[in-house]
Formats: sequence, C-alpha cells, structure tokens
Amino acid sequence: MEFFTSLRTTQVIYIIVLLGVLVLLNTNGVESRKDRISEWFEYSAISCRAHSASLEEFGGVADGITSNTHVFKAAIDHLSQLAPYGGALLFVPPGKWLTGSFNLTSHFTLYLHKDAVLLASQDESEWPVIEPLPSYGRGRDTEGGRYSSLIFGINLTDVVITGENGTIDGQGEPWWQKFRAGELNYTRPYLIEIMHSENIQISNLTLINSPSWNVHPVYSSNVVVQGITILSPVTSPNTDGINPDSCTNTRIEDCYIVSGDDCVAVKSGWDEYGIAYGMPTKQLVIRRLTCISPFSAVIALGSEMSGGIQDVRAEDITAINSESGVRIKTAIGRGGFVKDIYVRRMTMKTMKWAFWMTGNYGSHPDNNYDPNALPVIQNINYRDMVAENVTMAARLEGISGDPFSGICISNVTIGLTKKPKKLQWNCTDVEGISSTVTPKPCNLLADQGPEKISSCNFPEESLPIENVEVQTCSCNAKL
Ligand SMILES: *[C@@H]1O[C@H](CO)[C@@H](O)[C@H](O)[C@H]1NC(C)=O
Ligand SMILES: *[C@@H]1O[C@H](CO)[C@@H](O)[C@H](O)[C@H]1NC(C)=O
Ligand SMILES: *[C@@H]1O[C@H](CO)[C@@H](O)[C@H](O)[C@H]1NC(C)=O
Ligand SMILES: *[C@@H]1O[C@H](CO)[C@@H](O)[C@H](O)[C@H]1NC(C)=O
Ligand SMILES: *[C@@H]1O[C@H](CO)[C@@H](O)[C@H](O)[C@H]1NC(C)=O
Ligand SMILES: *[C@@H]1O[C@H](CO)[C@@H](O)[C@H](O)[C@H]1NC(C)=O
Ligand SMILES: *[C@@H]1O[C@H](CO)[C@@H](O)[C@H](O)[C@H]1NC(C)=O
Ligand SMILES: *[C@@H]1O[C@H](CO)[C@@H](O)[C@H](O)[C@H]1NC(C)=O
Repeated sequence: MEFFTSLRTTQVIYIIVLLGVLVLLNTNGVESRKDRISEWFEYSAISCRAHSASLEEFGGVADGITSNTHVFKAAIDHLSQLAPYGGALLFVPPGKWLTGSFNLTSHFTLYLHKDAVLLASQDESEWPVIEPLPSYGRGRDTEGGRYSSLIFGINLTDVVITGENGTIDGQGEPWWQKFRAGELNYTRPYLIEIMHSENIQISNLTLINSPSWNVHPVYSSNVVVQGITILSPVTSPNTDGINPDSCTNTRIEDCYIVSGDDCVAVKSGWDEYGIAYGMPTKQLVIRRLTCISPFSAVIALGSEMSGGIQDVRAEDITAINSESGVRIKTAIGRGGFVKDIYVRRMTMKTMKWAFWMTGNYGSHPDNNYDPNALPVIQNINYRDMVAENVTMAARLEGISGDPFSGICISNVTIGLTKKPKKLQWNCTDVEGISSTVTPKPCNLLADQGPEKISSCNFPEESLPIENVEVQTCSCNAKL
C-alpha cells in the first residue's frame, strides 16, 4: 500500500503503459528473436531516449524488395506512445529497407546502423499526396499537391534523425526522367521534410539520389544539421542539398555536398504566397561546408525569398568546381528582403563566378504576382576569401530603381583561369564599398583603401542555436 501511495499518478500511468507496450512488443515477435545479437552503442544527440526498439521487431524485411512502409508506420505509431515516458529510438539494422513515405513523431529518434540503407520506393502509390506549402501556393514542379517526403514530420518537437553514416537512397532516376519528360502528376518528393516543428537534429547520414531537394526544414525553429554527406549526380534536376525555408535558428555544419543544384538554398516562400505568409528565414549559421555544384551555387539566397531572409552567417566554406560561391537570386514580384548577410573564410577552386547577384531571376508561381513588390537587398558582407581558377570575379545585377545596397567586400583575392573574362566585375544597380580586393572591383563598390581591409562586418556575439549542444547517449539494440 505504502509503495503505491508514494507513487504519483503519472508514475502509475507510466508503469501501466510500459507493461502494455511490453505485451504488444511480445506479440510482435520479440520472443522468437531472443537469440539475436544485441549491440550497445553510443551516439550524440540533443536528447537521449529512455526506450528503444528495432525495426525487425515489427516485422521489417531488409531484402531491398519487400516494402516496409507499413512496418515503419506500425513501429512509429507504437513508439509514439512512449513520448511522455522518456521517448523512444527506432533502430534500423543493417540491410536494404525498401519503403515509401512515413511520418515521424515527437520525442523520437530514428537511428540508422552504418550498414543500413533506406531505399525509397519508386512506386507512386507509396507516396501520399499532400497540400502545397501555403507560402508557395503550388507545388514546385506542378500545380497542386506534392508527394510527401520519404521521411516527413509535421507539428513535432524533439526529433533526431541520425546514424553512423547510414544511407538514405532516394533512387531518384525515374523521378528525374518523369520531371524532364513533363510526366509528373505532382511535385517530386524530398528525402527529409520537417514542417511546423522545433528542436530537430539531422546528423551523420549519407543521402544519395534524392528525387528532388534533400533536406527541407520549413516553418520550423531550432534545427541542427550536422555531419551529413549528400551525393547527387551533378546533372540531376533540383537536387538541392539543404534548404532552410521560413525557419528561425538553424545551424548547418560539417556537411559535404555534391549537388545538381544549390548545396544550401535559403528560402522563404514564393511571390504573393510568400508575401502573404510572411515568415522569414533568420538566424541561420552555415559552417564547415564543402560543396561541389558545377551548375549552381554553394550558398543560394532565394530565389524564393518573399517572406524575407535575415541574419545569415556563413564561415569556413570550401567550394570546388562550382558555378558560383554565394548567389542572391530574386525578381520583381518577390517582395521580401535579403539583409544582414555575413560570409567569411570561403575558399573557392574552379568557379565560373565567385559572387553573383541576380535581380531578374523570373520564375513566378503564376501571373498574379504584384509587379510593385520589389525585394529589398541590403547589408551584404563578404570578407577573408581566397579563390583560384575563376572565370569571372563577380556579376552583380540589381534591379533598376531598386538598387541592392550596403554591399561590402574586403580582403578577397581571386585568381583567374587561363582564359578569364575581360570584364571581371560587371555591376549594375548595386551600391557598396570594397577594400583590398583583387581583381579590382567595379566603381560602384567604392574602394576604401587598404587600411579598411577589415571593414566588412561579421557579428561577434553568437546566435542561440550556436549554444545548443549534443550529449552522448547510449543504446542497446538488437541487430
Ligand atoms: C557524428 O560522427 C562523428 C564522427 O564519428 C562524431 O564525432 C559526432 O559526435 C557525431 N555527431 C552526431 C551529432 O551524431
Ligand atoms: C503523414 O501525415 C500527413 C499529415 O497528417 C498525412 O497527410 C500523410 O498521409 C501522412 N503520411 C503517411 C505515410 O501516413
Ligand atoms: C498542425 O498544427 C496546425 C496548427 O495547430 C493544425 O491546424 C494542423 O491541423 C496540424 N496538422 C497535423 C497534421 O497535425
Ligand atoms: C560517409 O559515407 C560517405 C559515402 O560513402 C563517405 O564519402 C563519407 O566519407 C562518410 N563519412 C564519414 C564521416 O564516415
Ligand atoms: C498520372 O496522370 C496520368 C494522366 O495524366 C495517368 O495516366 C497516370 O496513371 C497518373 N499516374 C499516377 C501514378 O497517378
Ligand atoms: C585576409 O583573409 C585571409 C584568408 O582568409 C586571412 O588569412 C587573413 O587573416 C585576412 N586578413 C585580415 C587582415 O583579416
Ligand atoms: C580551371 O578551370 C577550368 C575551367 O574554367 C578547368 O577546365 C580546369 O580543369 C581548371 N584547372 C584546374 C587546375 O583546376
Ligand atoms: C554586364 O551586365 C549587364 C546586365 O546587368 C549585361 O547587359 C551586359 O551585357 C554585361 N556586360 C558584359 C560585358 O558581360
């Protein structure tokens, strides 16, 4: 009696639920797999979990042929019940796990063993069609809906997707073909999309062959993306690496990306839909990124930027064989703003343009955009950079009557290819300053002299997301 009275109601509920879960797990075949080897491992995460289960316990088959879509659903539905009791980790053992789209839950970790491969199904019926994003008004590929991403989450908190460099293979080839042939019924799925969520970690995974964008946090906050390798054929369409979209407090670090599109594309909605939704991307940190993007940018700001982009800090970026380093893409009709952008310590090797700003990107969702909605591009700072084998230093095209202002470029040395462009800086409708930049910038970026070598700003104080730390967690899972 005393024992029970000393327990609080929540603890009694906890015990009852735990017993129920154990009974349910048993009926899912834990008994018959008792002889399986257990593996104890450690991993780093923003939060650890009290419980764990293996996908095999739910009847998963890792032959690369059998669909596990319903197995992921059953496992996650089940583990979601443990959210109030310390949360749960779902372990994906070695093998090839074919699956369509599945949904995550809160206080949950998806953990891939290093030899686990999630193979994305190529069967369209495995992909529910969901509403277009309100800030885009339509799908990016087609009007109307879009296929839900392979790993999808909405209205969540405290979610970790990690592994010891386990693989998520989007098997994108048929999607790319349908896109090129104009045969898509809906917009292609992404690999990971997290919507309206907070406290998210995506780390230590390899993502290959996504049908379209790879990682898309949208309308979310406190997002950490760490140690991700993304590999896409450089000619695959729209295989952007990481696209923070209308997000606050995001940190992207230690990633290696080979992409058919931008390695990181910062976004916030499209023309009149993005203006109406009005949700900016702000307080974004990008550091220690290595990018290969022969036909696009290392870091793109836009082109969908109608909700605004503010306070982006990028540092220690390595670009190899890429079209441009930092690129601002916008257009009349976008509205919104790109302001307070800080980039330093970027190393570039073999580039078409080190810097590129495009005010006439076009690409409208429909013809209802407001021709008076002009974007504000302001306070853009680039410093401490070295580039080699560059065809043209900069192509800076603002908008007539709406100049891009407050551009500051200092301490930048750009080495040229054997056949460089004659005009190295082509500037129109931009205003700003420069110091210690070679080759010599255009006159619109007034030279301040060598004593102003440190004139471009990079904020000293850190953003809240920089102080989020991962802890060491341990887990005992059946292989
Ligand atoms: C990712 O892997 C590296 C190297 O194995 C490890 O040091 C780091 O803690 C891991 N990070 C996370 C967030 O799991
Ligand atoms: C995931 O959740 C969304 C939103 O509730 C829903 O539309 C979609 O069908 C779910 N996906 C799956 C695979 O159940
Ligand atoms: C997510 O939350 C919003 C706002 O509370 C709600 O309108 C929407 O139905 C929720 N969606 C899902 C799938 O839970
Ligand atoms: C992860 O796997 C990719 C692809 O095999 C590899 O290139 C990369 O070096 C691996 N990263 C780590 C940290 O082991
Ligand atoms: C896509 O639409 C076409 C008609 O435009 C139809 O024949 C085809 O079955 C549809 N595919 C799917 C998977 O719904
Ligand atoms: C100029 O940039 C280089 C390369 O990033 C760096 O090593 C150097 O310290 C910078 N100089 C100044 C004065 O900031
Ligand atoms: C320099 O860039 C050109 C393209 O402009 C490329 O063909 C060549 O291989 C590059 N050279 C080196 C040494 O990387
Ligand atoms: C410079 O850029 C303008 C557009 O901003 C373009 O019309 C012009 O042709 C460019 N000049 C050269 C030499 O590339």
